[in-house]
Amino acid sequence: MKKHIAVLPGDGIGPEVMTQALRVLETIAYKFNHEFIVNRALVGGAAYDEYKSHFPEETKRICEHCDAILFGSVGGPVSDQHLDKWKNCEANSILSLRKLFKFSANLRPVRILPELQGVSPLKAQTIKTGVDMIIVRELLGDSYFGEHKQFTDNRNMRIASDLSVYSEDQIANVAHTAFRLARARQKKVTSVDKANVLSTSKLWRTVVKEIGQEHPDIQLEEMLVDNCAMQLVINPSQFDIILTTNMFGDILSDTAAVLPGSLGLLASASLNDKGFGLFEPPGGSAPDIAGKGIANPIAQINSLAMLLRLSFDLEKEAKLIENAIEGALKDGYRTQDIYHQSESTQTQLVGTKEMADQILKRISV
Ligand code: IPM
Ligand code: MG
Repeated sequence: MKKHIAVLPGDGIGPEVMTQALRVLETIAYKFNHEFIVNRALVGGAAYDEYKSHFPEETKRICEHCDAILFGSVGGPVSDQHLDKWKNCEANSILSLRKLFKFSANLRPVRILPELQGVSPLKAQTIKTGVDMIIVRELLGDSYFGEHKQFTDNRNMRIASDLSVYSEDQIANVAHTAFRLARARQKKVTSVDKANVLSTSKLWRTVVKEIGQEHPDIQLEEMLVDNCAMQLVINPSQFDIILTTNMFGDILSDTAAVLPGSLGLLASASLNDKGFGLFEPPGGSAPDIAGKGIANPIAQINSLAMLLRLSFDLEKEAKLIENAIEGALKDGYRTQDIYHQSESTQTQLVGTKEMADQILKRISV
């Protein structure tokens, strides 16, 4: 197979974890006789240095000509927000990409690996039956892309408003994605909204129910967002697919993302209706540990596995990478974010490159 991949390492730990993911890509290409052409481009603060834009034309062009996008992370030190380089860096680059490619669904799988139960912030009792869910978040509607306004009223009061809008086709598209995913899993979709208050949520609930009737083999459950936030913490094992709106998805997916113990483990995919996708670790650029060689490369490598599976249909290759990651963790290798001396199993603290070495070793055999 011959494919072009746009590689956007970005800022902070992005470049160093991307280096490791590309070593994995190279090994997979060699082992399975694929040709992956890597097209690098700048994004975020790194792009600003060169082009005075967080998402320059050159990067757009490269992304448009590739078969998938592998994204690192963007954003700089919060204390430097006054500098142009970091001002709105995340929003400018990530939201522009979503808008340009019409990425309407964001998929975030959350799994607590048995060998990492000790680093989860939840009690062993709470997660003893395992946690394995995918959060499906709508990505183009809600108050994200509605009108944003700040003005002064006739009492001279400063007012701000963000318009939240959903159309039925937006809801239907992402609902179909969720039901289709559920079919290959536990066949359960939990649709999350605030239908006791919001009009957008009332429409959301109605449309999801209609789409659910087209997928009669899948169980549909409705849950209010405040309850869902609580359930994620007290009983996360109940979930298979969580389907939700843009804003609620932003919040719930980060809540769920810390359950496995570190943001450095998980992958995320943003997809459009044509199946074109961007794959990224949702953990952010972590400027505090950037450049030290200690960041966990697993989230970036997992994002690559997801890209191979969803964009190129390379299930065997994706599974091999995921098994290699699990193997390295099972054998006790830990980066600092998942290292706890109190763990009963024999563990060894390693850096970014050494963790990738362990994963590569298990892919190559
Ligand atoms: C995410 C991020 C973005 C969002 C920000 C950076 C605009 O938090 O991908 O979840 O809110 O969608
Ligand atoms: Mg977020």
